[in-house]
Amino acid sequence: MVRLLTLEDVAHAISVMQVRGAPLIGATAAYGVALGLAESAGIADATDNRRLNHVIATLAATRPTAVNLHWALQRMRRVLQKSTPGTRCAAAWSEARAIAAEDIAANAAIGGHGLPLLKACQRTVQSDRARIEIMTHCNAGRLATVDHGTALSPVYAAHAAGLPVHVWVSETRPRNQGLLTAWELREAGVPHTLIADNAAGLLLMQGKVDLVIVGADRIAANGDTANKVGTYLKALAAQAHGVPFYVAAPLSTIDFACPSGASIPIEERAAEELGAGDIAVANPAFDVTPAALISGIISERGVAMADQLQAWQPT
Ligand code: MRU
Repeated sequence: MVRLLTLEDVAHAISVMQVRGAPLIGATAAYGVALGLAESAGIADATDNRRLNHVIATLAATRPTAVNLHWALQRMRRVLQKSTPGTRCAAAWSEARAIAAEDIAANAAIGGHGLPLLKACQRTVQSDRARIEIMTHCNAGRLATVDHGTALSPVYAAHAAGLPVHVWVSETRPRNQGLLTAWELREAGVPHTLIADNAAGLLLMQGKVDLVIVGADRIAANGDTANKVGTYLKALAAQAHGVPFYVAAPLSTIDFACPSGASIPIEERAAEELGAGDIAVANPAFDVTPAALISGIISERGVAMADQLQAWQPT
């Protein structure tokens, strides 16, 4: 277990991915703001925005792609700038708790909205296969959110409803987040099988997958979706073999200010992650799946076609 007690602890934990997964990064950063303000209580007056600016800038610099981080920091800034002298710290803790609670509720709702999609697969599975075969990538489960997960939330809902689900879990090189998915599915008693990333195309071709469901780090206004690198290849293979490809994410992952995937910043991580010594390395941590390859986006509001997200834009 890692205890995060200071702003620096939180920034470090997000940068080195002790805390990872878009929704969890957002909620953790919100608590990081509260910790950063608490550290300076008595030094910075509540009406002095310099400390707030420093805290937010420090956290914003940790990871670029997951928009939940920047969404949470903007929300904290909006609320805290309105706080009256002497109440800023308390307001920060309260808003961080609200963000965490809303994430739990949103993800639970995603499970409810995704469940009928999985049930629909059960009706179409071949008679020689009792299981509903789901493929996922990376870890978009409980370990990546405050609770329930995003892509795994419908899986947990289906399992709880007694549906015979089985999950193909891709390793997700180079950081192996698939092992986190396998760990949490095992804890929950959900049948699953770990595969090498490059095995996904074959399984899709062989008809061994009924539905692909992944999380997201940032969804552009037109539905183009950034998620862990390797997602795009799965979407291409799913389309080639007529397998539905869904993205599950809370509204905090949709960046309405970002017109398309081309504007999403893609994090480039350290060459050491590939363990390649002094060989030249490119290590983009995310890729972008075009909206046209996405069958639907599942949020706490329901299921929408990827190119029809405007209905969910906050007023
Ligand atoms: O680099 P990571 O491990 O933070 O990337 C995580 C992902 O890409 C997840 O699929 C995404 O954040 C959705 S998490 C519910």
